[in-house]
Amino acid sequence: MKIQELAAEIESTLLMEEQQIEQFRIRFLGSKNILKDLYAAIKDIPNEQKKAYGQSVNALKEHAERRFLEAKAALHKVQKLSNNEDLTKPAGSPKVGAHHPLSLIRKEILNIFKQIGFDVSEGPEIEDDWHNFSALNFPIEHPARDMQDTFFIQKGEEELALRTHTSSVQVRVMEQQQPPIRTISPGRVFRNEAISARAHCFFHQVEGLYIDKDVSFADLKQTLLFFAQTLFGTQTKIRLRPSYFPFTEPSAEVDISCTLCDFKGCNVCKQTGWLEIMGCGMVDPNVLEACGIDTDVYTGFAFGMGLERIAQLKYRVNDLRLYSENDIRFLSQFKSGMA
Ligand code: PHE
Repeated sequence: MKIQELAAEIESTLLMEEQQIEQFRIRFLGSKNILKDLYAAIKDIPNEQKKAYGQSVNALKEHAERRFLEAKAALHKVQKLSNNEDLTKPAGSPKVGAHHPLSLIRKEILNIFKQIGFDVSEGPEIEDDWHNFSALNFPIEHPARDMQDTFFIQKGEEELALRTHTSSVQVRVMEQQQPPIRTISPGRVFRNEAISARAHCFFHQVEGLYIDKDVSFADLKQTLLFFAQTLFGTQTKIRLRPSYFPFTEPSAEVDISCTLCDFKGCNVCKQTGWLEIMGCGMVDPNVLEACGIDTDVYTGFAFGMGLERIAQLKYRVNDLRLYSENDIRFLSQFKSGMA
């Protein structure tokens, strides 16, 4: 039989059932297979054609092997499927995904502030100097700009930045809206830091702003106490330590009582009984004026926290990198969370 005819037969033989496949195997690959005659015939082929002839017989053999293996695999798959086909078996439960822990914590924080009248505002991640720095009372060349290692982007003549905090969103809100303002600004922020368990080049913030007549530091403290007790439990205490931010005066760092040891001292609070969770302060009048708000009439407070930090305390996850690596073994542990 001619090589072309055999090639056509190999290609077109129906190989659906066990028997068909076995017959095919015997004919083309068995111990007395038909290709053996072709190999034997090589001695009668003129020398100059031997090479080409040998190659085409080899190709035939490979073709037959390939079809045989594919057919076997396909049959195996079908058999496996039908063996498992027990129609009385209860259906498996559908696979349920999990919300990302940062989504869970963001939702929880926003809900707490919604209860006391805050709305939610968002803004761009790529910011101009005005909204990220200048309007927030960071003068040009002021060393405070170095407090937040900034990623700059050159766009033609203009230097833009990846926002280093969502205070930039607060500036946008103040520019567009007259008081009373009560707003929460969640979002991703960027800082040029080496990635480690304790630092990352991006993280998430939730910042808050309240501007109205007669807003005082006492209002700020009470708001933060309400927040801390709702999120971490009614036994939670807060403490405010004097600090510095260009955009607030006076400024403070906020600590909560350690959620683990209740002042006994542990590794998490480094034996102090306190955990730092955010920065806050009364909005500097320079900021209000830069945004067109009358400082004779209005005062306000602002605060800002890192979502990863809060999630770390709530979920006891100590390595920041886990939040952005998308390891399914980590993420699937948050299945019970509702967002
Ligand atoms: N913007 C500050 C930061 O990113 C946090 C903050 C907000 C502090 C508002 C005080 C008031 O660190």
